Amino acid sequence: KILILDFGSQVTQLIARRVREAHVYSEIHPNDVSDEFIREFKPKGIILSGSHASTYEDHELRAPQAVWDLGVPVLGICYGMFTMTVQQGGEVEASTHREFGYAEVRAHGHTRLLQGIEDFSTTEGHGMLKVWMSHGDKVTKLPPGFKLMASTPSCPIAGMADESRGYYAVQFHPEVTHTVKGRDLLNRFVLDICGAKPDWVMGNYIEEAVARIREQVGSEEVILGLSGGVDSSVAAALIHRAIGDQLTCVFVDHGLLRLNEGDMVMDMFAGKLHAKVIRVDASDLFLGELAGKPEPEQKRKIIGKLFVDVFKAEAEKLKASGQGHKGATFLAQGTIYPDVVESGGTKTKKATTIKSHHNVGGLPEQLGLKLLEPLRELFKDEVRELGVALGLPHDMVYRHPFPGPGLGVRILGEVKKEYADLLRRADAIFIEELRAAIDPASGKSWYDLTSQAFTVFLPVKSVGVMGDGRTYDYVVALRSVQTSDFMTADWAELPYSLLKRVSGRIINEVRGINRVTYDVSSKPPATIEWE
Ligand code: XMP
Repeated sequence: KILILDFGSQVTQLIARRVREAHVYSEIHPNDVSDEFIREFKPKGIILSGSHASTYEDHELRAPQAVWDLGVPVLGICYGMFTMTVQQGGEVEASTHREFGYAEVRAHGHTRLLQGIEDFSTTEGHGMLKVWMSHGDKVTKLPPGFKLMASTPSCPIAGMADESRGYYAVQFHPEVTHTVKGRDLLNRFVLDICGAKPDWVMGNYIEEAVARIREQVGSEEVILGLSGGVDSSVAAALIHRAIGDQLTCVFVDHGLLRLNEGDMVMDMFAGKLHAKVIRVDASDLFLGELAGKPEPEQKRKIIGKLFVDVFKAEAEKLKASGQGHKGATFLAQGTIYPDVVESGGTKTKKATTIKSHHNVGGLPEQLGLKLLEPLRELFKDEVRELGVALGLPHDMVYRHPFPGPGLGVRILGEVKKEYADLLRRADAIFIEELRAAIDPASGKSWYDLTSQAFTVFLPVKSVGVMGDGRTYDYVVALRSVQTSDFMTADWAELPYSLLKRVSGRIINEVRGINRVTYDVSSKPPATIEWE
C-alpha cells in the first residue's frame, strides 16, 4: 500500500483516488504522524502532497524523518517537492503566495518516472508534458545527489530526481485531470518504481472486509439505520454478508420519502437479501410535529431530532429485548472516506472542514454502543462498485443523492400530507421521464447526465384552464443540476421535448397541480435545494 502524507492541499484526496484507480490501496494521513506510525504502516512508497495556495506559515511543515529512513521511493508534489528539497539539503525560494495554471514542462535526463510519458515532443526531440503547475515558490538549488528532471521557462527546476534512492519530485500536480498524462505518471511511480501490486479490486475487498467485520463483531449484535441512500444500503449489504442475522436494520419512514421508496427498501433488504429489517412508520409523528412550522432550519431541526428519538427508541427496545442474549452492542454507520477526511477524522488539520450530514451524530455515546463503519476507507465511486459487487441493483446504487430531511425541504413552508402526496407523484413522473430520455450524443439517460434532479412543491395556487373549466391549483418547480462536488452547480440544459413531456404528464396525471415551471438558477447564488 501507498502512504500519502497530507500537507493540507485541497486536492490530496485526488492523489488517493488516482492511486486506487491503479488498483493499489492508499491512505491519506496528516504530515505530522509519528515515525513509528510510518514504520508500522509499511508503505511500498510515500507521496508527499501539496499544500494550500497562499499559506506562507506552512513553510514550517516537514515530513517525519521516517519517510527518509525507510528506504522506500518518495514522490513529492508541489509543496511536497519543497519539503523534500529542504530536508535533503537543497534550497527553496519561498513566496508569500502561490497560484496554479497551465504550463508546458520539458523533461530532462531520461528519468524512470517520465521515460516515454509525453504529450508531444519539440523539434529538438525534447519530451513535453501539458501540466497544471503551481507558481510561486521555487527550488533554487538541487539537494546533493539529485538531478534535474523537468523545467519550464519560468521555473528552471520544475522536477528533480535522485534515482538511486527512488526520490522524485514535481512542482506540478499530476493528480488533477488538467495534467494530461498525470495518471500515467502516478501509475509509473506506484506500480513500477514502488513495485506496488495492483491487487485492490472489489471482489477481494469484500472477502477482506467480511473477515474484518466478523473479527470485530464476534458473536455480538449490530444495529444500523437504513435510509435507502447509497451509503447505508451498501453498508447494510456488506455487514449482512458478513454476519447475517446478527445485524438488525432499522428503517425509519418519516413520511417524507419518495414514491414507493419505503416498499422498495423493504423489498430489497427484507425480501431479496433476507436481512432483518424493522420498518418504523413514524409519518404521523413527523407530520404532526411539523404542522404550523414553515421555517426551513426549524423543519430540519425537528426532523433531525425526531429521527434520532425514533431510532434511539427502537435501538433501546432491541437492546432490552435481548434477541436471545445481550442485544445490540454495535451501531453501524455508512460513513465513507470523504466524510472521515472532511470532518477531520484523520486529524488533517489543514484540510478545510466542510459540513457533514450525519443523521445520528452523538448517538453511539448516548446509547453506549460501539461504532462499526465498514466503508470508512472507500470513496463514493468505490462504495457504488462495492454495492454492485454485493448484488444491489444498479439503479439503487447510482441513485441521485437525497437529503436526510427528504421532501420536508422540498415542500416550501409548512409541510402537509396533502402536499407530500402531490409532490411524490409529480416527482416520480419527472424521474421516470429523465431515466427514459436518452441523449443521442452520449447514449446516456438524462438521469445519468444530471447529478441531482427533483421536484419542488410551491404552496401557491395559480389559475388554469382544463377542458371547459377553470382550475385553481398548485404549482411545482422542476430542478435538475450538474455538478461535480455539490458546492457549485449549473442548472441542466434539458431538452425542451423532455420538459414538455414531463409537464404534460404531471398536469394531466396529478390532479391538484396545474402548472409546472423549470428552475434556471445556478449555485451560487441559488442553492440546489429550495430550502
Ligand atoms: P444545497 O441546497 O445546499 O445542497 O445546494 C447541496 C447538497 O446537499 C444536500 N442537502 C442536504 N442533505 N440534509 C442532507 O442530508 C440536509 O439538510 C441537506 N440540505 C441540502 C442537497 O440535496 C444537495 O445534494
